[in-house]
Amino acid sequence: MELGDRSHPQIRQVVLFFVYLGGFTVLSETWRYSVAEETEVGSFIANVIENMGCSVEELAARGARVIFDDYKPYLRLDLQTGHLLLNEQLDREALCDFSEPCILHFQMLLENPLQFFQAELFVTDINDHTPTFLDKHILLKISEGTTPGTAFQMDSAQDLDVGRNGVQNYTINLNAHFHLESKDSNEGGEYPELILDQSLDREKESEFTLTLTAIDGGSPPRTGTALIQVVVLDINDNVPEFERPVYEVQIPENSPLDFLVIKVSATDLDAGINGEISYSFSHMSRDVRKTFEIHPVSGEIHLKACLDFEVIQSYSINVQATDGGNLSGKSSIIVQVIDVNDNPPEIAITSLTSPIPENSSPEMVVAVLSLRDKDSGDNGKMVCSIQDNLPFFLKPTFKNFYSLVMEHPLDRERRDLYNITITVSDMGTPRLKTERNITVQVSDVNDNAPAFSQTSYTLLVPENNSPGLHIGTVSATDTDSGTNAQITYSLLPPQEGDQDPQLALASLLSIHADSGQLFALRALDLVAVRLCRRSGASSLAGCSLPEGHFPGHLVDVSGAGTLSHSYQYEVCLMGGSGTNELKFRKPISQP
Ligand SMILES: *[C@@H]1O[C@H](CO)[C@@H](O)[C@H](O)[C@H]1NC(C)=O
Ligand SMILES: *[C@@H]1O[C@H](CO)[C@@H](O)[C@H](O)[C@H]1NC(C)=O
Ligand SMILES: *[C@@H]1O[C@H](CO)[C@@H](O)[C@H](O)[C@H]1NC(C)=O
Ligand SMILES: *[C@@H]1O[C@H](CO)[C@@H](O)[C@H](O)[C@H]1NC(C)=O
Repeated sequence: MELGDRSHPQIRQVVLFFVYLGGFTVLSETWRYSVAEETEVGSFIANVIENMGCSVEELAARGARVIFDDYKPYLRLDLQTGHLLLNEQLDREALCDFSEPCILHFQMLLENPLQFFQAELFVTDINDHTPTFLDKHILLKISEGTTPGTAFQMDSAQDLDVGRNGVQNYTINLNAHFHLESKDSNEGGEYPELILDQSLDREKESEFTLTLTAIDGGSPPRTGTALIQVVVLDINDNVPEFERPVYEVQIPENSPLDFLVIKVSATDLDAGINGEISYSFSHMSRDVRKTFEIHPVSGEIHLKACLDFEVIQSYSINVQATDGGNLSGKSSIIVQVIDVNDNPPEIAITSLTSPIPENSSPEMVVAVLSLRDKDSGDNGKMVCSIQDNLPFFLKPTFKNFYSLVMEHPLDRERRDLYNITITVSDMGTPRLKTERNITVQVSDVNDNAPAFSQTSYTLLVPENNSPGLHIGTVSATDTDSGTNAQITYSLLPPQEGDQDPQLALASLLSIHADSGQLFALRALDLVAVRLCRRSGASSLAGCSLPEGHFPGHLVDVSGAGTLSHSYQYEVCLMGGSGTNELKFRKPISQP
């Protein structure tokens, strides 16, 4: 290629100078030729005939030759035509590396006479190399807190070509976060710089890839790319957040220990330790501390003490979720304790009168009791009762107080002891019932007179009996108890008005105080009949009707001096038959 090549107008001028070199001539005109690298072997470079000023025939005769400075045969001279031809394919990058221009110096030599011509072969660059990034996969870690405007320097791409064929420009694909700027490096050349336009948010996009392209200036241009993998590093810019601002839960008060009350859960968008959450209570009351525990990792809240609706009906628990960077989010839990009918009614007997005298008047308060049920609502409402058929009833008095009141008079002789079962049940589900037994004893009052076993006794006594004869036994019983039932037998002593104390019954008979045995004090005879008559008995004829009547001469059969019943008696002496009759009669009157 001759220097007429438009692309190299600067080397058109020819420098001419003559040097005298001891007898041979060096024509100081330097021929300049140009060839593009990689041109095919045998390509025409120039015709030297004209420049040398000799004919084609002379070339061979004068031993024309081409000699490069490094003696390498890049060109050859066709002696037949005077054409300089490319003898081997040239690689500009191998010959000159980055030196530009790339010039191979050579001489055209004519031996006879010796003559030198200086020449230069410009090897021009073609765009035969592609820009290349040494690192085709670039990892770029950027913290999400990085301020926009921050620049990240990238390595430049290499292109073995020079000049316009070298790297001219860098681009990145269109993206939201970065633009690219080319910067001049100290070594001449440029390097690309990524400039952050907009801050990164790892929680939105934790990683993305950019394509960095290096473009050379060839025609057509060649490009080389590298992938930039941008990894956004987390900063603790997110607070843990609970699913709910308030949790509400209801649990029965009889829930067992370790019962799972609720599981809270919070999330933190940050990564790694910044997103690691641990749960805890905050500002907890003593009751909360005593009753609940939270698992720091699972967020499960368990019971560690029993609940009691009657003591605490609801708890407010503050929970917090803290991440590894000490940012925390809060929530609260309202725990409502549901009442369970877990308390049976309680009965307290505040007073009890026992024994009670049988003559107590009705309406008497026998016992006072107070009822209590720790549950609330229906679970705490109570009804109380005692057995039917008792001479008592329960009467509400004041608040939870009830009185056990006597309904009918009592009679110890009929029943001296009442086992009273007080039953209180609540209205809850299930019904809980409490029983309490009290025993009421009835104490005796001497309200019963002794009663003889017979309304009258007829004792037959032989006339003229011997004194001291056991003539019979009377017997009485008393339904009262104790001393009230102790019986002593006696005969009424002579009374005022008795006409003849000698004839009082007490002078005729004696009675054993304890056994009721009657004895004759003396021999009984018809004198008594006379007495009978004297006292106004109707008829004594033959004394067949024993009607002797001794008013005021009574047998006293009395109980311990408190009550006594008197009995009239009749004595008949059976004349002739040898028997006398003694009659005791039913009382005529109570004292
Ligand atoms: C580099 O390329 C960009 C985009 O193609 C273009 O806008 C810019 O002008 C170019 N810079 C140079 C120095 O060629
Ligand atoms: C978080 O707080 C605790 C106690 O206040 C402290 O000991 C710990 O070093 C803190 N951790 C960080 C990551 O700030
Ligand atoms: C009352 O209870 C006592 C003891 O529980 C028992 O011995 C007695 O027989 C009971 N009496 C009546 C009348 O139920
Ligand atoms: C109360 O007495 C009844 C009947 O005698 C008995 O069945 C019950 O077990 C007693 N209750 C208590 C609490 O003693």
